Amino acid sequence: MEGGNVTRRDFIKTAAVVGASVLAVQAVGRGEARAAEEAKTAAKAATATAAGGGTKKVADVLKVAREKMYPRCRVCPECDGVACSGEVPGMGGLDSGRAFRNNLQALAKYDLKMRTFHDVKKPDTSVTIFGAKLSMPILSGITGGVTYNMGLGGKVGEDEYAEGIIGGCVLAGTIGFAADGIGDPLATYETRLKTVAKYKGRAVAQIKPRSQADIIQRIRLIEATGAPFFAIDIDSAGRAARALPGQTVEPKTLEQLREIARSTKLPFVVKGVMTPEEAVAAYKVGAAGIVVSNHGGRVLDHTPGTAQVLPAIADKVKGKMTIFVDGGIRYGADVLKMLALGADAVLVGRPLVRGSVGGGAEGVAAILKKMQDELVVAMTLTGTADVKKVSRDILA
Ligand SMILES: Cc1cc2nc3c(=O)[nH]c(=O)nc-3n(C[C@H](O)[C@H](O)[C@H](O)COP(=O)(O)O)c2cc1C
Repeated sequence: MEGGNVTRRDFIKTAAVVGASVLAVQAVGRGEARAAEEAKTAAKAATATAAGGGTKKVADVLKVAREKMYPRCRVCPECDGVACSGEVPGMGGLDSGRAFRNNLQALAKYDLKMRTFHDVKKPDTSVTIFGAKLSMPILSGITGGVTYNMGLGGKVGEDEYAEGIIGGCVLAGTIGFAADGIGDPLATYETRLKTVAKYKGRAVAQIKPRSQADIIQRIRLIEATGAPFFAIDIDSAGRAARALPGQTVEPKTLEQLREIARSTKLPFVVKGVMTPEEAVAAYKVGAAGIVVSNHGGRVLDHTPGTAQVLPAIADKVKGKMTIFVDGGIRYGADVLKMLALGADAVLVGRPLVRGSVGGGAEGVAAILKKMQDELVVAMTLTGTADVKKVSRDILA
């Protein structure tokens, strides 16, 4: 709004704030405390919207994402790894692309039992992860490589992209990840961590499975940001051949993992666990959490879908450590299925890449909000009151 010229968009924003505030005043006049509280919440939400939080429509975000990323990402109506099969670098799954598709197929093997005779009217989607209270059990996945993977050289910078992911997660009431690129020198990583520090306590960082000394050096930097935990994507070890001269990525022995866990008070999450044996081993060496993940099918072809391996893993470590899962999660119903299979929370990769590229923080928040709305519907129609207590029995 400048020089007295009110745009239609500004008018709608202002009207929403004023309208909600009037409702609050009216409700107080009627002495209806609860209605007043709800109206106040609406006013707050409208104010947040006017300030730029959550005004974008998902369809618009996807349109812009397609314009910016095509042909690296075609932004298909169903992000299922078919069109982009074998495109790594790119957005696809490695080689035959089977591991990416397996993620969606494993989830599709489960359906939900619809139950409507119950009193679940307002399902609770909130969770607490390592002391951080989140509005939903959905965090951002770990994604990076705006030029290498997304073909965005010159259009969107790596830090701008990370700001979109993390800022959008914070807008939606959850947590976002900053990525560590294999070829990134320490100075680049330090810049990325400034975004994590900016959202103190609401952002986390990942480290590649570098040399022990390099990992511990990066852990010290993460500790200073206020991040509630950190993760190492141990499954990136197969990319050793691609590491730049002077940079190492390597598989880790149990002794090395123990050394990492003992080097810090921050909870250590191991990303890329696909068997019950390695989940138990991660627990024994002192990891506080795991991400059941095949890296979106990008590191080893022919790995099973994560929904297939999750139940056996949860049977061994549920309640002892935090279980995250990712891979092929596109809708709120997918989130609910993963929780029923034993996850405490999920990570969403490619859909939020589209969000950040297509709409920055608001784009990411719009996609997360849509998934949360779908989750609420799925919980209501399966009789699930609380995301912290999801029964496997809701699966058909
Ligand atoms: C473009 C792109 C970049 C990624 N970069 C990383 C990374 O740097 N570190 C990591 O642990 N995982 C990385 N991943 C894998 C994701 O963290 C996640 O495991 C996967 O995308 C989840 O599957 P989904 O995309 O089907 O949700 C990347 C995935 C994509 C698509």
